[in-house]
Amino acid sequence: MNSTRISQLFDIQYPIVQGGMVWVSGYKLAAAVSNAGGLGLIGAGSMYPDVLRTHIQKCKKATSKPFGVNVPMLYPNIDEIIAIIIEEEVKIVFTSAGNPNLWTSHLKKHGITVVHVVSSIKFALKAQAAGVDAVVAEGFEAGGHNGREESTTFTLIPMVKEQLHIPLIAAGGIATGRGMLAALVLGADGVQVGSRFAASLESSAHIDFKKKVVAVSEGETVLTLKEIAPVRMIKNEFYTQIEKLHQEHKSVEDLKKLLGKRRLKRGMFEGDLVDGMLEIGQVAGLIHEIQSAKEIVEEMVKEYKEVLQEKF
Ligand SMILES: Cc1cc2nc3c(=O)[nH]c(=O)nc-3n(C[C@H](O)[C@H](O)[C@H](O)COP(=O)(O)O)c2cc1C
Repeated sequence: MNSTRISQLFDIQYPIVQGGMVWVSGYKLAAAVSNAGGLGLIGAGSMYPDVLRTHIQKCKKATSKPFGVNVPMLYPNIDEIIAIIIEEEVKIVFTSAGNPNLWTSHLKKHGITVVHVVSSIKFALKAQAAGVDAVVAEGFEAGGHNGREESTTFTLIPMVKEQLHIPLIAAGGIATGRGMLAALVLGADGVQVGSRFAASLESSAHIDFKKKVVAVSEGETVLTLKEIAPVRMIKNEFYTQIEKLHQEHKSVEDLKKLLGKRRLKRGMFEGDLVDGMLEIGQVAGLIHEIQSAKEIVEEMVKEYKEVLQEKF
């Protein structure tokens, strides 16, 4: 496929970014996606600083292609995480869940390409003003933490495109070549894919979680916990408990108590499908098998080309 502003920015073959994902995207997945011609991201959000350093070092050995690190800014130890990224000479950082003014200029001073993830026009413009190199605009069909605006990818991308001049990456609901073509037609320069890679062979998620993702159909995910931080996940027993607290008009403190500290690890890494938190996007309904990252990238590119020819 033709190069885009995103494939040029990262010096990659295809404008496909594998979203950074807590408990899912370690160096194995990131390196596999980069080796397949996309851009792999190590998800720092679930890693202690020394664990992140190990993953970066292993990723450098596993691929000679560009890769990056995703840093959700709401997590603790952020100063240490940023220091390690600079020491290890990581070239690309995707920041999310926080203020782009906090770290962008510091990272750029060290020659790092910085991308920020947003869910609205307002935050896209704020990120652009902060000096980032590109923006990921993510619709609320995406898995994981989401914006409060509940804008869909189909509406968000063209609206952000109207106002932004830096490169734009679309995320949320994209898992196929058709989806990628649609995003590019709407004005994106590349796509960020999360859910499909979460169910890949190289994902570090528990096999039971991957099988569950493959089994999920339309309507089985939900955006919840808006009082704390909106998150899209699979409806399970844990979600039923959240709903019960909502119906009883319980306080945010009660919800936080129910959430506790280890729900994500329990669900996605340890495979507790009942009481764990199972982050995944609406697009899970389109994920039908557990494949290697290479197969996913190749399939997306092939379908993109076929549909492009068929339609235009
Ligand atoms: C299991 C899971 C964990 C995620 N963790 C993070 C994260 O740590 N940081 C982040 O910026 N986005 C995170 N995301 C969002 C993804 O990076 C990506 O933007 C999103 O999944 C794209 O939408 P899709 O799920 O429809 O493909 C996560 C998504 C999933 C499914």
